[in-house]
Amino acid sequence: MSEKFDLTVIGGGPAGYVCAIRASQLGLKTACIEFRGTLGGTCLNIGCIPSKSLLNLSESFHKAQDFSKIGIETGEIKLNLSKMMKNKEKAVTILTKGVEFLLKKNKVEYLKGKGSLMGNNKISIISKESETKVIESEKIIISTGSEAASLPGVQFDETKILSSTGALNMSKVPKKMMIIGAGYIGLEMGSVWSRLGSEVHVIEYLDHITPGLDKEISNEFLKILKKQKINFHLSTKVEKVSKTDNGVAIETRDNQNNKNLFTGDVVLISVGRKPYTENLNINNLGIHCDEKGRIKVNSNFETNIKNIFAIGDVISGPMLAHKAEEEGIAVAELIAGQAGHVNYDLIPGVIYTSPEVAYVGKNEEELKRKKITYKVGKFPFMANSRAKAIDQPEGFVKILADLKTDKVLGVHIIGPHAGEMIAEMSVAMEFGASSEDIARTCHAHPTFSEAIKEAALSVDKRQIHS
Ligand code: NAI
Repeated sequence: MSEKFDLTVIGGGPAGYVCAIRASQLGLKTACIEFRGTLGGTCLNIGCIPSKSLLNLSESFHKAQDFSKIGIETGEIKLNLSKMMKNKEKAVTILTKGVEFLLKKNKVEYLKGKGSLMGNNKISIISKESETKVIESEKIIISTGSEAASLPGVQFDETKILSSTGALNMSKVPKKMMIIGAGYIGLEMGSVWSRLGSEVHVIEYLDHITPGLDKEISNEFLKILKKQKINFHLSTKVEKVSKTDNGVAIETRDNQNNKNLFTGDVVLISVGRKPYTENLNINNLGIHCDEKGRIKVNSNFETNIKNIFAIGDVISGPMLAHKAEEEGIAVAELIAGQAGHVNYDLIPGVIYTSPEVAYVGKNEEELKRKKITYKVGKFPFMANSRAKAIDQPEGFVKILADLKTDKVLGVHIIGPHAGEMIAEMSVAMEFGASSEDIARTCHAHPTFSEAIKEAALSVDKRQIHS
């Protein structure tokens, strides 16, 4: 007799493990299948967490070099990369173990192995030792995530041709690092290795960086990154990537049709991610996917096959851990008969560079496209007392509010702690705040968040400090 569950998630990343915990809290007998050996998926193992750890560590190294300028005399500042990497690994281990503990605490059965669908109530699990076990489950949630996409005909070897996984794990600082794609991964990893001493070159197909970001923020971001000595080659398409004896060669063509050849020690290909559905047997089951290979679901996360649901990076929407977690909770609640819901209009985005970039809601280009009339309020950190006091005056806050109703439609921040500050605006927008509401809310002094209040005041041209 095979073991029976009410709900089983395939994939133990932020979508899957969160869904499993919530389902178990709601009284469903739940299992979570994961083959990686550790829980937490891409985010905890090879994504958000190790990258944030390295961003923090590399920033400390970078700042330490200027300590004498601020009156802290130390000896020679030297990089011990292997120790830095061990610190990063420690952060990953603590967090992945933490998720395992949470599954246990919430009575979720953790099944190690590769899950494959045998029908709409049956899953086979093949362990590392090639042993097969079959379980039955009333509902099945696919949360198998995504993997790095490469360029046509180019294979990652994680030594010279790197995905984000390889870029998080280099054993020495490359003299010259080429990066293809000026998205989140390219810019975060570019920042890390540039701070640690690499000459970093980013090649981007578009005429701007960070596609989808408010253009004004993106332009400011580019200026700041260039000041940090990261080199950009925009409007340039990569046509060929090959390995050479010493490193890599990259053939490009710009928008004037000029060909160029770049060389480097390593290249990071960060041109997006694709859904990971290998081994799932979805084709044989007839589960519908879109043209990008993402599993199609309805508004209740149901696939076209009864009892099978999908959430996270494997379906459409931004490939963000927090979006995946929201979907995990929503689908568990829907299955348990509650009213789970995700507000896709208010999924915040954060780029953890220095300064950080964060946003929630619509940007100016989207509002123009949708013909929504709006007013703009802006406030520079240059005029914020906390930012000035600690010498982090770069960037600004930008608030977009509806011209007629004053309802906040979007908030875009480039500046210190932007990623933390954006949460205030997510809450405000969930409650339908107007810029007047934000402007009349008392913000502590001196804090970076006063720049949000001032930007709100500036929507009606009544800011005090600029
Ligand atoms: P991305 O989609 O953000 O950026 C890829 C860039 O590559 C685009 O600007 C594109 O125009 C460019 N590109 C594509 N083909 C090219 C070519 N042949 N030549 C030159 N440029 C080319 O993808 P990225 O950075 O790989 O990130 C993948 C996913 O991971 C994103 O969906 C992101 O949401 C997620 N992520 C989120 C993070 C965060 O929340 N802080 C951090 C890291 C990743």
